[in-house]
Amino acid sequence: MKIGIVGAGQVGSAAAYAMTLMGVGSEIVLVDANADLAAAQAQDIVHATPYAHPMVVRAGGYGALTGAAVVVLAAGVSQKPGESRLELLDRNAEVFRQIVGRVMEAAPRAILLVASNPVDLMTYAAQAISGLPSSRVIGSGTILDTARFRQLLGAHLGIAPQSVHANVLGEHGDSEVAVWSSAMAGTVPITEFAEQVGTPLGHDVRTRIAGEVRDAAQTIIRGKGATWFGIGAGLARIAEAVLGDERAVLSVSAMTDEVAGVREVPLSLPRIVGSGGIVGELRPPLDTDERAALKASAEQIAGLARQMSV
Ligand SMILES: NC(=O)c1ccc[n+]([C@@H]2O[C@H](COP(=O)([O-])OP(=O)(O)OC[C@H]3O[C@@H](n4cnc5c(N)ncnc54)[C@H](O)[C@@H]3O)[C@@H](O)[C@H]2O)c1
Repeated sequence: MKIGIVGAGQVGSAAAYAMTLMGVGSEIVLVDANADLAAAQAQDIVHATPYAHPMVVRAGGYGALTGAAVVVLAAGVSQKPGESRLELLDRNAEVFRQIVGRVMEAAPRAILLVASNPVDLMTYAAQAISGLPSSRVIGSGTILDTARFRQLLGAHLGIAPQSVHANVLGEHGDSEVAVWSSAMAGTVPITEFAEQVGTPLGHDVRTRIAGEVRDAAQTIIRGKGATWFGIGAGLARIAEAVLGDERAVLSVSAMTDEVAGVREVPLSLPRIVGSGGIVGELRPPLDTDERAALKASAEQIAGLARQMSV
C-alpha cells in the first residue's frame, strides 16, 4: 500500500524512516518544494530497507501520490527556540492552501494525516480546504504528548511504557491535559499501582511529569533545533492503524462536534482508527479539574479556529 508524505524535512523523513523500520505500507512517496531534498531523503531511507522491511521509497511530484491510502502533511515551518506552535499558524495555513488541493487531485481517496503545527488548527485547515469529512482528516494531535506521558510514567513506575494506559488530551500545545484519573498500569489504577511498587505519584511527582511532557518540545528544540523522531514514530503508528484497519484506540486530533460544552473544535480525544480513518470517538471519564482544563483547552482552540480564514 502506498503512503504519500508531503514535506520531506525532518518530520516527514523521520516518519518515512519509522514506517520503513516498522514495515508500514509497501511504498512511500516523498514530495517537497525542494525536490533535491526529497530525492536525497528517499535515497538515504531506502538504504535502510535491507536491514528492515522491503519497501519502495522514492521522491516524486504530486502526480506520484495517485493511489495513496494515506498522505502525511508535514510541510511548512517549525518552531524556533522560544516560539510557540501557535505562532506558526499563518505561515503554515498558507502552505496548506498551496498543497492540500494538489494532494486531493492526485489522491482523492486518501486519509490525510496532519503533522504540521499548530497541528489542531492545521487539521481544521486541511479538512476545510479538502472538503473531506472530519473522519478522514486525522491530526497527529497528542499522539506525541501521550507517548511522552507514557514513557515518563513507565520510567517512574519501572514498567514498560506499553503497559501504561494513559492519555494527554486537548491541544497539542501548552493547554494540553494529562489525564490522571483514568490512567492505568496494566489493569490497575495508576495511583494504586504506584503505591504497590513503592513509587507513589504524589502531587509533586505529577506536577513534574505533566510539566516535562508539556515542555518536552522546547527542551529538545533548545538542544537540537527541532523534534522529529518521536513524532515520526507516532505518525507511522497512526498510518499503520489505518492501513491495517486495526481499530486501534489512539489519542489523535480531529474536528469535534462538541466537547466539555465547546462546539466545533479540533482537538485530541481517544479515537478508534481504522481504514475509514476515525471510526469512533471516546469520552474518557474526567475528574472536575481535568474537565475544566479540557474545557479551557477547547475554548482556546475553538476561539483561534473561528478567527481562521481557510
Ligand atoms: N505534530 C507534531 O507533534 C510535530 C512535532 C514536530 C514538528 N512538527 C511540525 O512539523 C512541521 C515540519 O517540521 P520539520 O522539522 O520537518 O520542518 P523542516 O523545515 O525540516 O521541513 C519542512 C519541509 O516542508 C517543505 N515545504 C515548505 N513549504 C512547502 C510547500 N509549499 N510545498 C511543499 N513542501 C513545502 C520544506 O521544503 C521542508 O523540506 C512543522 O510545522 C513542525 O512544527 C509537528
